[in-house]
Amino acid sequence: MKKLEFPGNFLWGGSIAAHQCEGAYQADGKGLGHMDFVTTGSYGEERKITKVIEEGNVYPSHDGIDFYHRYKSDIELFGEMGFKALRISIDWSRIFPNGDDEIPNEEGLAYYHQVIDELRANQIEPIITLCHFEMPIEVVRKYRSWLSRETVELYLRFCETVMKEYKGKVHYWVTFNEMNHLEIQSDFSNTFTYMITGLQYSDLHDKELQLATMGYHMTLASVKAVKIAHDIDQNNQVGCVFGLTPCYPKTSKPADVLQAFKDTERDLYQVDAMCNGAFPLYKLKEYQRRGITLPICESDHLAFREGKIDFIGLNYYSSDVSSAEPDENTESSLFGGIPNQYLEKSAWGWSIDPTGLRYMLNYLYHRYGIPIIITENGLGAVDQVENDGIIQDDYRIDYLKKHLEALKAAVEEDGVDCFGYLMWGPIDLVSATTGEMKKRYGFIYVDKQDDGSGTFLRSKKKSFYWYKKVISTNGEDL
Ligand code: BG6
Repeated sequence: MKKLEFPGNFLWGGSIAAHQCEGAYQADGKGLGHMDFVTTGSYGEERKITKVIEEGNVYPSHDGIDFYHRYKSDIELFGEMGFKALRISIDWSRIFPNGDDEIPNEEGLAYYHQVIDELRANQIEPIITLCHFEMPIEVVRKYRSWLSRETVELYLRFCETVMKEYKGKVHYWVTFNEMNHLEIQSDFSNTFTYMITGLQYSDLHDKELQLATMGYHMTLASVKAVKIAHDIDQNNQVGCVFGLTPCYPKTSKPADVLQAFKDTERDLYQVDAMCNGAFPLYKLKEYQRRGITLPICESDHLAFREGKIDFIGLNYYSSDVSSAEPDENTESSLFGGIPNQYLEKSAWGWSIDPTGLRYMLNYLYHRYGIPIIITENGLGAVDQVENDGIIQDDYRIDYLKKHLEALKAAVEEDGVDCFGYLMWGPIDLVSATTGEMKKRYGFIYVDKQDDGSGTFLRSKKKSFYWYKKVISTNGEDL
């Protein structure tokens, strides 16, 4: 029997996001984004969200890792590793500083032309996320974020503008990053709801209705953006990125198994809506039972039919455990699950489970049958710079190697159609959940610390050379 292998055009590369790396938060006409109001936190201490920018606080998005000014040399380093693709996001507030401006900001458009051209010059395919926790703050304040239909229209105007602007240079678009984490029930609810919508969970007065409304509007915005992309250029491939976590039952008690099924499925209604051409009936029934009426318009049905995604982007970091009778005294994970005694955890408490990646890839592929790309996977860890300046990050290599073995098994043994692997944070950047620099993911070290100090100088870690070899052997030599 012929062994399946990674296709020759497999997209090896990495993923980054504007608000976590660009910095230059007010340069060249950029408006303020909602993440510009979030301070540095730490493991166990939520990031602070302020109404105004307060002196004395560190807001890590303001400087990021200064990718805005250093993109050329950073992209050269990605090119040196042999990257075939880089996923970046276009910050909405660089293009429409207030969200509802009459004309786009030329300097913002010019900046992304330069970045995209630099990627192409290095034979790196740009994969563009249109909304990776980035939104002009005015859209939140004036239009109540995704609670309103106006925001859907403003987002679509932004999408259309950049899709036309970069037509022919960009072929892969991602409508949203992890909108599915909107309703996370954990200690991080506030952070997640804010990252995704610019509104704090604690500020929502009718939480269930408002979260459902925002989830609906974002899902609708995504399908409409897909249609626009296809109309502009039939070669456009459009997907949406989901952060998915398989949930295992705590025991084989049927009630635990059912709970695990429900927890794994919790966010899949959005994927169903984007793949199946209709907002799922089971979710509408659930809302009905909970007394929630969605603001659905007649024309929305057509939008769902016409806006099916071409691929699914999977962000995968860890798995979870579900129980029908959760013990309130047990510590809970980022997404509200309970600890898995069989798995090790990262220093930030995220369980490390390569098999979960294979599980999730199979799950998605069996259910939807469309191509999948891993849009994020990586290990946040504390790196020690040795006296000779080298960082021996064997733990990172070990984590990635095991996940790539699981991916290989999914592709080569299980026949999953996965067309790329984009490691999260190929260069150290600001952590989304904690705002820390200390939580490092990169193959490339950035000299920036949590108090904002540092030279921003870049240096290669041991994993840099390892990933280069992985790419040059098309995943044969892990
Ligand atoms: C994903 C996000 O959820 O996880 C990224 O899409 C984020 O933006 C990544 O950075 C890792 O999370 P963290 O909190 O370690 O940065």
